[in-house]
Amino acid sequence: MKEKLAAMLEAAKAELVTVENSKVLQDLKVKYFGKKGQMTAIMKEMGKLSKEERPKIGQLANEVRAEVEALINDKMAEIKRLELEAKLKSEAIDVTLPANNFNRGGLHPSTITLKQLIDIFIGMGYTVAEGPEIETVKHNFDDLNSPIDHPSRSESDTFYFNSELLLRTHTSPVQIRTMLNNQPPIKIISPGRAFRKDEIDATHSPMFHQIEGLVVGKNVTMTDLKGTLNQFVKILFGEQIKTKFRPHYFPFTEPSAEMDVSCYKCQGEGCKFCGNSGWIEILGCGMVHPQVLKNCGIDPEIYSGFAFGMGLDRLTLLKYEIADIRLLFENDVRFLAQF
Ligand code: PHE
Repeated sequence: MKEKLAAMLEAAKAELVTVENSKVLQDLKVKYFGKKGQMTAIMKEMGKLSKEERPKIGQLANEVRAEVEALINDKMAEIKRLELEAKLKSEAIDVTLPANNFNRGGLHPSTITLKQLIDIFIGMGYTVAEGPEIETVKHNFDDLNSPIDHPSRSESDTFYFNSELLLRTHTSPVQIRTMLNNQPPIKIISPGRAFRKDEIDATHSPMFHQIEGLVVGKNVTMTDLKGTLNQFVKILFGEQIKTKFRPHYFPFTEPSAEMDVSCYKCQGEGCKFCGNSGWIEILGCGMVHPQVLKNCGIDPEIYSGFAFGMGLDRLTLLKYEIADIRLLFENDVRFLAQF
């Protein structure tokens, strides 16, 4: 019996060395400790031993069993570790590989233009002010000195909610809001959406973007207006750009003007791009009407100001030589991805 136990221990040790996976180890466990296992068989034979032998052999058998069990458990732990390592290795993800079908977003061309304009004006000391798209008739027309019979007030030109509320037709009501809430000096630009009942075509959209400018202070003159806008277009289109101010009418500025820039494609020679005139219309502007200052609680005897407003989408079309404003709003990625 002693020899049997010793032989079994040696055999188990030898077998364990060659075991490489948990399945084989499990089989080995059964071979020794299962119902028909060798160890189980030996334990069963114990009964045949003499009274004297039984305790000694019994102790030995227990020791051998404990040792084989311990060896198997150690092996099991080792195999589990190796198997886990192998699994982790085989399932490893290379995070440095590029992902499939990775479409990167970009800025909308009008946003690029807007960011550039904001940069230019912030560089000149302006701050950005914003106003609501749903405006009062008072801010959009009345306070801006718009005559009661002005065509832009008509239902066929403007989206009304009721007799007091509308979708703002320009960003100029932000002038009013700014002056009502701040005393001069004021120096703001205000970008945002505006709405008009225009038929959609290559140059018109019922929703479009404007950027407004307003400066109010002591001794602000038309010279300041022209200097500011000259500087602005030189940064935007280049040093060689010339400007031309044509007299115009806006209810909220007096005098008023429209500003043209010399065509940056033909340098003013006349080409298809500028309709052979050599000039491109860019914006409306003027000196803030004294009545508008008064409407906002600012004394026109002490203060004066200038304002300007331009179409952001129109500038984007000019800048990128895009022929149709609809392209800016149709969200066709094939178009948008080009900027
Ligand atoms: N609000 C005018 C428009 O929409 C533009 C403008 C703004 C003109 C400020 C003069 C001063 O056409």
